[in-house]
Amino acid sequence: MKKNVVLFSKIPADQQARLEEAFNLAVFNRGSNSDLANYAKVLANAEGMIGNIPTKVNDEFLSQTPKLKAAATISVGFDNYDLIALKKHGIRLMNTPKVLTESTADLIFTLLMATARRTVELSNLIHNGKWKKGITPEYYGTDIYGKTIGILGMGRIGQAIAKRAYCGFDMNIIYYNRSAHTEIEQAYKAKRLELDNVLKQADFVVIILPLTKETTQLITKEKLTLMKPSAILINGARGKIVDQQALFEALKNKTIKAAGLDVFEVEPLPTDSPLLQLNNVLLSPHVGSATAETRYAMAKCAVDNIIAALKDEKPTDNWVNPEVG
Ligand code: DGY
Repeated sequence: MKKNVVLFSKIPADQQARLEEAFNLAVFNRGSNSDLANYAKVLANAEGMIGNIPTKVNDEFLSQTPKLKAAATISVGFDNYDLIALKKHGIRLMNTPKVLTESTADLIFTLLMATARRTVELSNLIHNGKWKKGITPEYYGTDIYGKTIGILGMGRIGQAIAKRAYCGFDMNIIYYNRSAHTEIEQAYKAKRLELDNVLKQADFVVIILPLTKETTQLITKEKLTLMKPSAILINGARGKIVDQQALFEALKNKTIKAAGLDVFEVEPLPTDSPLLQLNNVLLSPHVGSATAETRYAMAKCAVDNIIAALKDEKPTDNWVNPEVG
């Protein structure tokens, strides 16, 4: 008999067809009837879940899904899942870590460059008919080539950013990470430093850490004061890593120069967010991996993961919690 699986995200038709062939598939429709309570019965019988579920998957949630064996995210981040609760309930969790590395690093570099060179602000100047003569110093940008980039988090994406910074822009690389990456230190002359020293020395601070208990609100008001007034902060990880109100104040008071943000404490960013009052912040709507090719590859990877997990195949390197077995 086919196993019951719930799909929580819109995925390409051919990948959904694979799920339909392998499982008895229920599709959670975000557009209508999107209240999870309506799905309680479906979830109570589900052996698998795939996609980005719109709630915390914790002990309380899992006590209502007694048949669940495996969950597959369509993301690298899995901060929505309580790993202790998953272990307690014996549930395998898989993510899609490799396929989105390069496009996420591209987006982070896009934000870095566009923030430094004030691309959107200057484009708006033309759109608004305000390009009347040569650009005056108040619109000058900041050089990138040869500057110091401080990367917070030297996982796969951090390494892809380091490669772009070193090979493309001759940047000096410093980084903060729990463990050292000697191969990256050798390849890109990167130096591992304490967090405070990275913040003090970097011209560009790029956050690409996972959201954990330790990284939540890691960048406080005090940490922001360590940054140079000429420095630019880029966050491509999770909004909750930064105290967003403190960041707003730092940008408003110009104690740092600018920020490029793809992630926010609350998403979508509320339309009354004070960040929207500022010119020195560039915003994108959580689109690190949002290219057609990468989103396709992520969906396919997640479908492969859930099929393998429910066939009881051995954990792969996409398995977040192989200790569950
Ligand atoms: C990821 O893959 O974690 C992206 O941030 C989307 O959530």
